[in-house]
Amino acid sequence: MQRRPRRNRSGKAIRDLSQETILTANDLIFPLFLLEGKNLKTEVSSMPGIYRLSLDLMLKEIESCMKLGIQAFDIFPVVEESYKDKMATRSYDDSFFYLQALKTIKREFPEALVITDVAMDPYSSDGHDGIVRNGEILNDETLEVLSKMAIAQAETGVDMIGPSDMMDGRVGFLRDSLDDAGFSNVGIMSYTAKYASSFYGPFRDALDSAPKFGDKKTYQMNPANRKEALIEAELDYIEGADVLMVKPAMVYLDIISDLKANYDLPIAAYNVSGEYSMIKAAGQKGWIDAERARDETLLSIKRAGADMILTYFAKEFMVAHRAK
Ligand code: PBG
Repeated sequence: MQRRPRRNRSGKAIRDLSQETILTANDLIFPLFLLEGKNLKTEVSSMPGIYRLSLDLMLKEIESCMKLGIQAFDIFPVVEESYKDKMATRSYDDSFFYLQALKTIKREFPEALVITDVAMDPYSSDGHDGIVRNGEILNDETLEVLSKMAIAQAETGVDMIGPSDMMDGRVGFLRDSLDDAGFSNVGIMSYTAKYASSFYGPFRDALDSAPKFGDKKTYQMNPANRKEALIEAELDYIEGADVLMVKPAMVYLDIISDLKANYDLPIAAYNVSGEYSMIKAAGQKGWIDAERARDETLLSIKRAGADMILTYFAKEFMVAHRAK
């Protein structure tokens, strides 16, 4: 036998030297859930270790994450039912707590990369990502709302917006709107291939944003489809996206790999709420080693081709791997 691959696995040093994929803080984006009010911290029951935080506590959380080397945060608002309406009007009301908080976060941490979510669902009384008329999710009318939302968010000083709604033409529409409003430096991380997935359940618990009727299958992608992701990627590329995202991550590694192979833009992957909860739950039951499963999962997402990973594990990963 001339070739013995096991030689490169025979001890820790050679294993470390020949390791192909290495995960660092520069790969991670930490999603955070923002509450209105002060000194509030509530655990998401389906996501052990993940809390909804009011602004004062979120500033502390961001500071402690920055000390661990995490530089990027994706911030989602928890919107009370009484603020919701059919047209998601709070999403672009600049006195609304989310937009006010973003301003403070950027003022306190100008060097952090702050990303926002552009979609109607947290603000919509229908719980859908677009305007609903007679049970239909309207596309082009929704773009107008998304554009107001994106501009209102850009005005707070955030660095990048994340359209997560899967309406057709939104990246180009938002790019033009931002440019016309003087925000040509605000980037777009497009939720390019976002699938109609069961793995968003705990996130919808966190934000209380589940659809009030039906599902999201007329806009989010069919989990059975692979080539369709390339169509979405092509459109986002042409329309001016800065980052292409695949979501969820763990069960869509083939899609991450396809986008990486076909596009030169950075590829993001969203390791979503249900993927986090699954590992946590099995770990709590003692059925798997959750820490190793976490590390293996994040590595697999990077190995598949993701340049950046949105993950609820971001902070605990950095704590676990902090230089001693
Ligand atoms: C809203 C949005 C969702 C997620 C991110 N933005 C939920 C959905 O589309 O229903 C899910 C994130 C997660 O599950 O962690 N447009």
